Amino acid sequence: MHTPVLLDQVMIALEIKKDGLYVDATFGEGGYSQAIVNAGGKVLALDLDQSQISNSQLSMSDLKLVEGNFGDIEKIAKENSFYPVDGVVFDLGLSMRQINQSGRGFSFKRLNEPLDMRMSLKTEMTAKYLLNHLSEAELYEVFAKNSEEINSQKIAREIVVRRSFKKLEIVGNLINCIDHAIGEPDNNVYKRIFQALRIQVNEEFKNLKKGLDGAAKIIKNDGKIAIVTFHSLEDRIVKNFSRSQGLKLLDKKPIMNRRGRNFEKSAKLRLIGKKII
Ligand SMILES: C[S@@+](CC[C@H](N)C(=O)[O-])C[C@H]1O[C@@H](n2cnc3c(N)ncnc32)[C@H](O)[C@@H]1O
Repeated sequence: MHTPVLLDQVMIALEIKKDGLYVDATFGEGGYSQAIVNAGGKVLALDLDQSQISNSQLSMSDLKLVEGNFGDIEKIAKENSFYPVDGVVFDLGLSMRQINQSGRGFSFKRLNEPLDMRMSLKTEMTAKYLLNHLSEAELYEVFAKNSEEINSQKIAREIVVRRSFKKLEIVGNLINCIDHAIGEPDNNVYKRIFQALRIQVNEEFKNLKKGLDGAAKIIKNDGKIAIVTFHSLEDRIVKNFSRSQGLKLLDKKPIMNRRGRNFEKSAKLRLIGKKII
Protein backbone atom coordinates (compact mmCIF):
# COMPACT_ATOMS: atom_id res chain seq x y z
CA MET A 1 0.00 0.00 0.00
CA HIS A 2 1.19 3.53 -0.79
CA THR A 3 1.69 5.53 2.44
CA PRO A 4 1.00 9.20 1.74
CA VAL A 5 2.76 12.02 3.56
CA LEU A 6 0.97 13.00 6.81
CA LEU A 7 -1.35 9.96 6.70
CA ASP A 8 -1.34 9.47 10.49
CA GLN A 9 -1.96 13.16 11.11
CA VAL A 10 -4.86 13.26 8.63
CA MET A 11 -6.44 10.17 10.20
CA ILE A 12 -6.21 11.70 13.69
CA ALA A 13 -7.58 15.03 12.43
CA LEU A 14 -10.58 13.48 10.67
CA GLU A 15 -11.54 11.27 13.67
CA ILE A 16 -12.98 8.58 11.38
CA LYS A 17 -16.42 7.34 12.56
CA LYS A 18 -17.70 3.81 11.98
CA ASP A 19 -19.96 3.96 8.87
CA GLY A 20 -19.17 7.68 8.51
CA LEU A 21 -19.08 9.09 4.97
CA TYR A 22 -15.80 10.50 3.62
CA VAL A 23 -14.75 11.90 0.26
CA ASP A 24 -11.13 11.32 -0.80
CA ALA A 25 -10.91 14.14 -3.36
CA THR A 26 -7.48 13.05 -4.64
CA PHE A 27 -7.44 9.23 -4.74
CA GLY A 28 -3.97 8.85 -6.32
CA GLU A 29 -2.62 5.47 -5.30
CA GLY A 30 -5.32 5.08 -2.67
CA GLY A 31 -3.42 5.49 0.62
CA TYR A 32 -6.02 7.68 2.32
CA SER A 33 -9.02 5.80 0.93
CA GLN A 34 -7.68 2.49 2.17
CA ALA A 35 -6.84 3.83 5.64
CA ILE A 36 -10.30 5.40 6.03
CA VAL A 37 -12.09 2.20 4.98
CA ASN A 38 -9.86 0.15 7.31
CA ALA A 39 -10.86 2.50 10.14
CA GLY A 40 -14.56 1.79 9.48
CA GLY A 41 -15.55 4.66 7.15
CA LYS A 42 -17.22 4.59 3.73
CA VAL A 43 -15.37 6.39 0.95
CA LEU A 44 -16.24 8.07 -2.32
CA ALA A 45 -12.88 8.69 -4.04
CA LEU A 46 -12.21 10.97 -7.01
CA ASP A 47 -9.28 11.37 -9.34
CA LEU A 48 -8.93 13.55 -12.40
CA ASP A 49 -6.46 11.10 -13.91
CA GLN A 50 -8.24 8.08 -15.36
CA SER A 51 -5.04 6.03 -15.16
CA GLN A 52 -4.96 6.41 -11.37
CA ILE A 53 -8.38 4.74 -11.23
CA SER A 54 -7.61 2.02 -13.77
CA ASN A 55 -4.25 1.20 -12.11
CA SER A 56 -5.86 0.76 -8.71
CA GLN A 57 -5.77 -2.75 -7.30
CA LEU A 58 -8.05 -1.78 -4.41
CA SER A 59 -11.33 -3.60 -4.26
CA MET A 60 -13.30 -2.81 -1.11
CA SER A 61 -17.07 -2.82 -0.71
CA ASP A 62 -16.95 0.50 1.17
CA LEU A 63 -14.94 2.30 -1.52
CA LYS A 64 -16.40 3.81 -4.68
CA LEU A 65 -13.96 5.19 -7.27
CA VAL A 66 -15.01 7.91 -9.70
CA GLU A 67 -13.01 9.63 -12.43
CA GLY A 68 -13.73 13.32 -11.89
CA ASN A 69 -12.48 16.76 -10.99
CA PHE A 70 -12.72 17.77 -7.34
CA GLY A 71 -13.82 21.17 -8.65
CA ASP A 72 -17.15 19.31 -9.20
CA ILE A 73 -17.13 17.62 -5.78
CA GLU A 74 -20.59 18.85 -4.77
CA LYS A 75 -22.19 17.63 -8.02
CA ILE A 76 -20.34 14.26 -7.92
CA ALA A 77 -21.28 13.64 -4.26
CA LYS A 78 -24.92 14.43 -5.00
CA GLU A 79 -25.01 12.28 -8.16
CA ASN A 80 -23.72 9.39 -6.04
CA SER A 81 -26.17 10.16 -3.17
CA PHE A 82 -23.09 10.49 -0.97
CA TYR A 83 -23.77 13.50 1.28
CA PRO A 84 -23.82 15.12 3.80
CA VAL A 85 -20.36 13.78 4.67
CA ASP A 86 -18.30 13.58 7.86
CA GLY A 87 -15.08 14.56 6.16
CA VAL A 88 -13.25 15.41 2.96
CA VAL A 89 -9.54 15.02 2.34
CA PHE A 90 -7.48 16.77 -0.35
CA ASP A 91 -3.87 15.65 -0.89
CA LEU A 92 -2.75 18.06 -3.58
CA GLY A 93 -0.31 17.68 -6.45
CA LEU A 94 0.87 14.52 -8.17
CA SER A 95 1.61 10.99 -7.02
CA MET A 96 5.02 9.37 -7.52
CA ARG A 97 3.47 7.05 -10.11
CA GLN A 98 2.40 10.02 -12.23
CA ILE A 99 5.84 11.64 -11.96
CA ASN A 100 7.83 8.49 -12.70
CA GLN A 101 5.62 6.43 -14.99
CA SER A 102 3.06 8.58 -16.80
CA GLY A 103 5.45 9.70 -19.58
CA ARG A 104 3.78 13.15 -19.53
CA GLY A 105 6.80 15.33 -18.77
CA PHE A 106 6.00 16.13 -15.12
CA SER A 107 9.63 15.65 -14.02
CA PHE A 108 12.53 17.85 -15.08
CA LYS A 109 14.72 14.73 -14.87
CA ARG A 110 12.96 12.92 -17.73
CA LEU A 111 14.54 14.80 -20.59
CA ASN A 112 12.99 12.86 -23.47
CA GLU A 113 9.37 13.00 -22.34
CA PRO A 114 6.94 15.25 -24.21
CA LEU A 115 6.00 18.60 -22.62
CA ASP A 116 2.46 17.47 -21.87
CA MET A 117 1.81 17.84 -18.09
CA ARG A 118 -1.92 17.04 -18.23
CA MET A 119 -3.35 15.12 -15.29
CA SER A 120 -6.38 14.21 -17.38
CA LEU A 121 -5.84 13.33 -21.02
CA LYS A 122 -9.27 14.89 -21.63
CA THR A 123 -7.80 18.34 -20.90
CA GLU A 124 -7.13 20.22 -24.15
CA MET A 125 -4.30 22.47 -22.92
CA THR A 126 -0.73 21.13 -22.76
CA ALA A 127 2.56 22.62 -21.56
CA LYS A 128 3.85 22.38 -25.14
CA TYR A 129 1.01 24.59 -26.39
CA LEU A 130 1.64 27.22 -23.69
CA LEU A 131 5.40 27.26 -24.31
CA ASN A 132 5.04 27.62 -28.08
CA HIS A 133 2.06 29.99 -28.28
CA LEU A 134 1.95 32.39 -25.30
CA SER A 135 3.59 35.78 -25.71
CA GLU A 136 6.66 36.63 -23.63
CA ALA A 137 4.49 38.69 -21.27
CA GLU A 138 1.98 35.86 -20.89
CA LEU A 139 4.70 33.28 -20.19
CA TYR A 140 6.22 35.64 -17.62
CA GLU A 141 2.84 35.93 -15.92
CA VAL A 142 2.35 32.15 -15.80
CA PHE A 143 5.78 31.60 -14.22
CA ALA A 144 5.64 34.54 -11.81
CA LYS A 145 2.05 33.99 -10.68
CA ASN A 146 2.25 30.21 -10.25
CA SER A 147 5.74 29.86 -8.79
CA GLU A 148 7.09 33.29 -7.83
CA GLU A 149 10.34 32.34 -9.63
CA ILE A 150 12.59 35.43 -9.70
CA ASN A 151 14.10 34.50 -13.07
CA SER A 152 10.68 34.32 -14.75
CA GLN A 153 11.33 37.28 -17.06
CA LYS A 154 14.67 35.97 -18.34
CA ILE A 155 13.29 32.48 -18.87
CA ALA A 156 10.22 33.75 -20.74
CA ARG A 157 12.44 35.81 -23.04
CA GLU A 158 14.77 32.87 -23.76
CA ILE A 159 11.84 30.60 -24.61
CA VAL A 160 10.44 33.10 -27.10
CA VAL A 161 13.85 33.52 -28.78
CA ARG A 162 14.59 29.77 -28.99
CA ARG A 163 11.17 28.71 -30.23
CA SER A 164 11.51 31.07 -33.20
CA PHE A 165 14.21 28.64 -34.46
CA LYS A 166 12.67 25.36 -33.31
CA LYS A 167 9.48 24.51 -31.39
CA LEU A 168 9.87 23.22 -27.84
CA GLU A 169 8.75 19.57 -27.85
CA ILE A 170 10.40 17.68 -25.00
CA VAL A 171 11.51 18.31 -21.41
CA GLY A 172 15.16 18.65 -22.50
CA ASN A 173 14.24 21.62 -24.75
CA LEU A 174 12.78 23.52 -21.80
CA ILE A 175 15.75 22.66 -19.57
CA ASN A 176 18.10 24.08 -22.25
CA CYS A 177 16.13 27.35 -22.28
CA ILE A 178 16.26 27.63 -18.48
CA ASP A 179 20.00 26.85 -18.33
CA HIS A 180 20.74 29.41 -21.01
CA ALA A 181 18.54 32.06 -19.35
CA ILE A 182 20.02 31.73 -15.85
CA GLY A 183 23.55 30.72 -16.83
CA GLU A 184 23.82 27.45 -14.88
CA PRO A 185 21.81 24.33 -14.03
CA ASP A 186 19.59 24.80 -10.97
CA ASN A 187 17.14 22.09 -9.86
CA ASN A 188 15.16 24.53 -7.72
CA VAL A 189 14.48 26.80 -10.69
CA TYR A 190 13.51 23.77 -12.84
CA LYS A 191 11.08 22.65 -10.11
CA ARG A 192 9.41 26.05 -9.89
CA ILE A 193 9.05 26.48 -13.65
CA PHE A 194 7.65 22.94 -14.04
CA GLN A 195 5.27 23.57 -11.14
CA ALA A 196 4.08 26.81 -12.75
CA LEU A 197 3.34 25.13 -16.07
CA ARG A 198 1.59 22.17 -14.45
CA ILE A 199 -0.60 24.51 -12.39
CA GLN A 200 -1.57 26.43 -15.53
CA VAL A 201 -2.27 23.36 -17.70
CA ASN A 202 -4.46 21.75 -15.03
CA GLU A 203 -6.04 25.00 -13.72
CA GLU A 204 -5.03 23.88 -10.25
CA PHE A 205 -5.77 27.10 -8.34
CA LYS A 206 -9.21 27.50 -9.89
CA ASN A 207 -10.07 23.85 -9.15
CA LEU A 208 -8.79 24.13 -5.58
CA LYS A 209 -11.03 27.13 -4.86
CA LYS A 210 -14.05 25.38 -6.44
CA GLY A 211 -13.21 22.13 -4.64
CA LEU A 212 -13.00 23.77 -1.22
CA ASP A 213 -16.21 25.63 -1.86
CA GLY A 214 -18.00 22.41 -2.87
CA ALA A 215 -16.54 20.48 0.08
CA ALA A 216 -17.84 23.11 2.51
CA LYS A 217 -21.32 22.61 1.02
CA ILE A 218 -21.37 18.83 1.48
CA ILE A 219 -19.94 18.47 5.00
CA LYS A 220 -22.19 18.04 8.03
CA ASN A 221 -22.20 20.80 10.68
CA ASP A 222 -19.49 18.91 12.58
CA GLY A 223 -17.74 17.68 9.41
CA LYS A 224 -14.11 18.49 8.63
CA ILE A 225 -12.06 19.25 5.55
CA ALA A 226 -8.39 18.18 5.71
CA ILE A 227 -6.07 19.66 3.09
CA VAL A 228 -2.43 18.67 2.52
CA THR A 229 -0.60 21.30 0.46
CA PHE A 230 2.96 21.28 -0.89
CA HIS A 231 3.70 24.95 -1.56
CA SER A 232 2.92 28.34 -0.10
CA LEU A 233 0.62 29.48 -2.92
CA GLU A 234 -1.74 26.53 -2.33
CA ASP A 235 -1.56 27.07 1.41
CA ARG A 236 -2.48 30.74 0.93
CA ILE A 237 -5.61 29.74 -1.03
CA VAL A 238 -6.60 27.36 1.78
CA LYS A 239 -6.01 29.97 4.50
CA ASN A 240 -7.97 32.65 2.63
CA PHE A 241 -10.79 30.20 1.96
CA SER A 242 -11.03 29.28 5.64
CA ARG A 243 -12.00 32.90 6.31
CA SER A 244 -15.13 32.42 4.17
CA GLN A 245 -18.42 32.93 5.84
CA GLY A 246 -19.30 30.27 8.36
CA LEU A 247 -15.94 28.44 8.22
CA LYS A 248 -12.83 28.43 10.37
CA LEU A 249 -9.36 26.88 10.63
CA LEU A 250 -9.58 24.27 13.38
CA ASP A 251 -5.83 24.55 14.15
CA LYS A 252 -4.22 28.00 14.14
CA LYS A 253 -0.91 26.63 12.85
CA PRO A 254 -0.62 24.03 10.08
CA ILE A 255 0.62 20.54 10.96
CA MET A 256 3.97 20.09 9.25
CA ASN A 257 5.89 17.05 8.08
CA ARG A 258 9.38 16.80 9.53
CA ARG A 259 10.56 13.59 7.86
CA GLY A 260 11.28 12.32 4.37
CA ARG A 261 12.50 13.81 1.14
CA ASN A 262 12.50 17.57 0.48
CA PHE A 263 9.09 17.70 -1.19
CA GLU A 264 7.64 15.66 1.70
CA LYS A 265 9.07 18.14 4.20
CA SER A 266 7.16 20.94 2.45
CA ALA A 267 3.82 19.23 3.21
CA LYS A 268 1.39 21.15 5.44
CA LEU A 269 -1.93 19.94 6.78
CA ARG A 270 -4.76 22.38 7.47
CA LEU A 271 -8.11 21.47 8.93
CA ILE A 272 -11.27 23.47 8.20
CA GLY A 273 -14.64 23.13 9.90
CA LYS A 274 -17.91 25.05 10.21
CA LYS A 275 -18.28 27.74 12.84
CA ILE A 276 -20.73 26.57 15.45
CA ILE A 277 -23.08 29.49 15.98
C1 LIG B 1 -0.57 13.59 -4.18
S1 LIG B 1 -1.58 12.58 -5.17
C2 LIG B 1 -2.61 11.81 -4.00
C3 LIG B 1 -1.98 10.66 -3.31
C4 LIG B 1 -2.97 9.88 -2.49
N1 LIG B 1 -3.37 10.55 -1.28
C5 LIG B 1 -2.43 8.50 -2.20
O1 LIG B 1 -2.55 8.06 -1.06
O2 LIG B 1 -1.92 7.86 -3.09
C6 LIG B 1 -2.72 13.70 -5.88
C7 LIG B 1 -3.74 13.06 -6.79
O3 LIG B 1 -4.76 14.02 -6.98
C8 LIG B 1 -5.16 13.97 -8.33
N2 LIG B 1 -5.74 15.29 -8.65
C9 LIG B 1 -5.08 16.45 -8.83
N3 LIG B 1 -5.95 17.44 -9.11
C10 LIG B 1 -7.19 16.89 -9.10
C11 LIG B 1 -8.49 17.40 -9.32
N4 LIG B 1 -8.71 18.68 -9.63
N5 LIG B 1 -9.52 16.56 -9.18
C12 LIG B 1 -9.33 15.25 -8.86
N6 LIG B 1 -8.11 14.70 -8.67
C13 LIG B 1 -7.05 15.52 -8.79
C14 LIG B 1 -3.92 13.64 -9.10
O4 LIG B 1 -4.23 13.07 -10.35
C15 LIG B 1 -3.22 12.66 -8.14
O5 LIG B 1 -3.59 11.35 -8.43
